[in-house]
Amino acid sequence: MKLTQADFQERRDRLAEQMGPNSIAIIATSPEVMRNRDADYKFRADSSFFYLTGFAEPEAVAVIETDETGEDYIYSLFCRERNREMEIWNGYRAGIDGAIDDYDADEAYAIDLLDEEIIEKLLNKDKLFYRIGQRAEFDARVAKWIAKATGETRRGTSAPAQIVQLDRMIDEMRLHKSAKEIELMQIASDISAEAHTRAMQTVQPNMMEYALEAELNYIFGKNGCVPSYNSIVGGGENGCILHYVENNQPLKDGDLVLIDAACEYELYASDITRTFPVNGKFSPEQKALYQVVLDAQIAAIDAVRIGNSYKEPHHVAVKILVQGLLDLGIMQGDLEEIIETEKYRQFYMHGTGHWLGMDVHDVGTYKHGEDWRVYEEGMVVTVEPGLYIAPDDETVDVKWRGIGIRIEDDVVATANGPLVLTKNVVKSIEDIEALMAK
Ligand code: GLY
Ligand code: MN
Ligand code: MN
Repeated sequence: MKLTQADFQERRDRLAEQMGPNSIAIIATSPEVMRNRDADYKFRADSSFFYLTGFAEPEAVAVIETDETGEDYIYSLFCRERNREMEIWNGYRAGIDGAIDDYDADEAYAIDLLDEEIIEKLLNKDKLFYRIGQRAEFDARVAKWIAKATGETRRGTSAPAQIVQLDRMIDEMRLHKSAKEIELMQIASDISAEAHTRAMQTVQPNMMEYALEAELNYIFGKNGCVPSYNSIVGGGENGCILHYVENNQPLKDGDLVLIDAACEYELYASDITRTFPVNGKFSPEQKALYQVVLDAQIAAIDAVRIGNSYKEPHHVAVKILVQGLLDLGIMQGDLEEIIETEKYRQFYMHGTGHWLGMDVHDVGTYKHGEDWRVYEEGMVVTVEPGLYIAPDDETVDVKWRGIGIRIEDDVVATANGPLVLTKNVVKSIEDIEALMAK
């Protein structure tokens, strides 16, 4: 399953409609980033640029110009020209003809002509829609174009009188996923679930964390995918480090391992966390804490319902986590008071989720004014409660220390209730132990 040019065009149509008459939008892709001398990071297109164009090459800028009526628009793509020498060294380019024939651009130009051509396009437009603040270097270039267009006024022309933050419009479009986008996220989730399943099946005491990471990467790579963020593979107390990515320690018999890892498929991300015993069997303490997190997670998933506040899953999760900590004697005091004062942050210091889409921490506002927004059809959110008992936390009985647990699934708000994209990897204690015993 892939998006087609018709999908990208439909997105441009919707954006152009919102821009109104006589306006111009400029959208650049990401820059290429060097890793070290002569070696660059593998290029990954900017999510919003790709969302509107389907164009995955570097050095590209899309321009949308609406006409005087606002009914029609011209879509121009600035991209790299075809070049036999460069293509021998670095690979295929769509070029100017490809931009028009394969990517449905009305006009296409060599990227080297951008500074020149853009001035003509800016002249006499009322509004410029631009993603301000993404990249200082490109911001400076746009500022120069505006200055130049303004300087042309003696010719009887004008420069745009308004500059509008384009991200707000694109982000809102991206936040609401279409059925096709959900399908792509389902594929990313299925592959990621397979990777977690393989990790549970292959882990052994004394294996290195990076070796377990390699098992995940094998499944991602075999399916033509890359990780959607740096994988976290933390054995034992490393599971208490929220963004642990060193992954360079041995996994010990008797410890849990926390894996937060997933891939992106066609630029759509998944985000999964599972925590399981290195030797296949939860200890009584691990089991008790795990069950609290799992109960919190299952209840929080059920709160991802159209019309519920974005924060509802968090409130649901926190209540169950705190009650669990009280029941296990890890915390003492009054449930409401602990929640009110956020004392639970000693053990649960992050939010319960975030929007998920082309970016793992996806775009879209979380509040409308002062209020948390509510779930609407097609919004995708992660649900990822956890408990982390620091290894040096002397307020807690030693038997609990160094246990870090998080369970994370990806959930779509639908008219039929929460749809869990990541259900293909087990998470109950019984199911994990049964899978690992095979
Ligand atoms: N993997 C990043 C996150 O869970 O937010
Ligand atoms: Mn997440
Ligand atoms: Mn995650």
